[in-house]
Amino acid sequence: MRKVAVIGGGNVGATAAWQIASKDLADVALYDILPGVPAGKALDMSQAGEVFHFDARIEGSDKIEVIRGAEVVVVTAGFPRKPGMDRMDLLKKNVEIAKAAALGIKQHAPDAVVVVITNPLDVMTWVVKEVTGFPKQRVVGMAGVLDSARFARFVADELHCSVKDVRPMILGGHGDTMVPLARFSTVNGVPLSELMPAETIAKLADRARNGGAEIVKLLGTGSAYYAPAASATLMVEAILGDTGRILPCSSYLTGEYGFDGIYLGVPVALGAGGVRRVVSLSLDAAEKAALAKSAESVRTGIAEAKPML
Ligand code: 2OP
Repeated sequence: MRKVAVIGGGNVGATAAWQIASKDLADVALYDILPGVPAGKALDMSQAGEVFHFDARIEGSDKIEVIRGAEVVVVTAGFPRKPGMDRMDLLKKNVEIAKAAALGIKQHAPDAVVVVITNPLDVMTWVVKEVTGFPKQRVVGMAGVLDSARFARFVADELHCSVKDVRPMILGGHGDTMVPLARFSTVNGVPLSELMPAETIAKLADRARNGGAEIVKLLGTGSAYYAPAASATLMVEAILGDTGRILPCSSYLTGEYGFDGIYLGVPVALGAGGVRRVVSLSLDAAEKAALAKSAESVRTGIAEAKPML
């Protein structure tokens, strides 16, 4: 079977490992610096194989060598937010962690595609690209899939329709400045504007924008992990299967949407080798302005992270 590695055995990492293995997408290596924990979690998960009928093997270790041979590496290691914190507040603490993960990947999985989840997402994805020196296609951040999934949930609840019919689209950085695009969000092809008033769309978009913080507040300690892990799993599935699915992901931009040298959430076609291409949407003036604001916040984060590499 093919192999995926997950760096970080906390809630997001362990849940991603579980989802990837239990869907039989690949064998999974779970790495964490804590001795015992990744091996224990991996053993526990692997013992569900008979019950859930999956053959994927799951191995956990505190030795980074465990990631050897992985085609995709999911980076989840890092501190989560506490109530009242912004994702950017994690920058200083998580740069070192993302850097260490990147060095490990460069050494032990030099041909892998890397999917980054660590926050602040867009900045950490940039850190991983800088430190690994991998081509832009092979380092991608998970953000838009999660933000869009949250928006889809709220739309489906509002309309009492199946969430499977909702095709949402949220662009921009994974933070307070993300840009829900009502014009490009539909329910089975029907634009949202045909189905609900603008104020309702704005209210649901706002809830999606604050979707992570809402869960952080409820949990008290830690942040969301089921939906973040599911979003990464969807990306892993697209990469392993070379499906070319068009998903909003944090991608390195070299001129697309008018930005250069930063990571930002945009629709991309994901397949073997990572980002096949960035899909350009023609945005109106308000959408462009919102995306520019989001890009500015990512740029500020990158400027802060740069001297720490
Ligand atoms: C979230 O939005 C963990 O940033 C992630 O929940």
